[in-house]
Amino acid sequence: MMKKTILTGIRPTGNLHFGHYFGACSNWLKLQNEYDFYLEIADVQALTDNFNNPSKVRKNVKELTLDLLSIGIDPNKVHIFIQSQISEIAELTVYYSNLVTMARLYRNPTVKTEIAQKKALFGNDGESVTYGFVGYPVSQAADITAFRGELVPVGEDQLPLIEQCREIVRKFNSIYGLTLKEPEPLLSPTPRIKGLDGNEKMGKSLGNAIYLVDNDETLHKKIMSAVTDPQKIKKDDKANPEICMVYYYHKLIQNENLKTVCQECKAGKRGCVACKKELIQKMQEFLAPIREKRTYYETHPEEVDHILQEGTKIAKEKAKETMHDVKIAMQIDYESK
Ligand code: TRP
Repeated sequence: MMKKTILTGIRPTGNLHFGHYFGACSNWLKLQNEYDFYLEIADVQALTDNFNNPSKVRKNVKELTLDLLSIGIDPNKVHIFIQSQISEIAELTVYYSNLVTMARLYRNPTVKTEIAQKKALFGNDGESVTYGFVGYPVSQAADITAFRGELVPVGEDQLPLIEQCREIVRKFNSIYGLTLKEPEPLLSPTPRIKGLDGNEKMGKSLGNAIYLVDNDETLHKKIMSAVTDPQKIKKDDKANPEICMVYYYHKLIQNENLKTVCQECKAGKRGCVACKKELIQKMQEFLAPIREKRTYYETHPEEVDHILQEGTKIAKEKAKETMHDVKIAMQIDYESK
């Protein structure tokens, strides 16, 4: 049986943190064994917000690739590629842009929220809201359909973008004839990971994230500052682990002593400092194989370049096939005549 095609993307704007890992990437590690998997480093999309800072995007393409390989994304199973290198995506974006109204883009809940955030940050004059930004759902529809992605693993915040893509596909097919595939979202089982401060979401801009590249010293500092049960003042006070971030991370990394951690905390037999130290040690164990792989790839840059080149080559072939069909459907297939 033919494997189904999966496509997902990630913006190269920073290193991977625990929120990415447990919220999305750990699921990709399973999916890579079952599907034909295209993993896009969405540098064009990152540039919509960072057009004036290209070196940041460039640097993070490399960082992100190292992160992805170090967590165990297998380049023999996953086509890791760079969005900007697939010109067909840009081409499709132009054609799809006729199929979407401005009103519909402004109504997209993801775009709406992000515009509100920009206005709060840069003032209410709309100066920061570019054409490229408002249109990024169209470009994302091109990302997905260029590879005939059938399933798109995403977090909940991305659902409106998948819906928008499905609408574009339906409109395209109804005007030009059945050409494109309508993708389905594949929701991650744990889409949201809490931050060190107890915030419902771990995020770079929230300053509450633990990164996979954090060294021991940083890890120590961060875990020591993690929010615990505020009612617990002295080390033998009884506490509620369910509202403690330290316990939350013990659970996340599947500490095999979890029951003991919980019982001792509830019984007032475990001080927060000791509990945090145990967590640091368990996190180091969890990170050990990831750090080892990262060191390997950091010292073999030619291998990393080769992986990206191969992934991009395969992605390009697939996108070309789609482009060929799209051009025929739209009657702009001049070169194939
Ligand atoms: N918008 C996604 C994010 O910010 C990244 C992304 C780019 C993506 N292209 C994609 C996700 C295609 C799924 C499919 O997380």
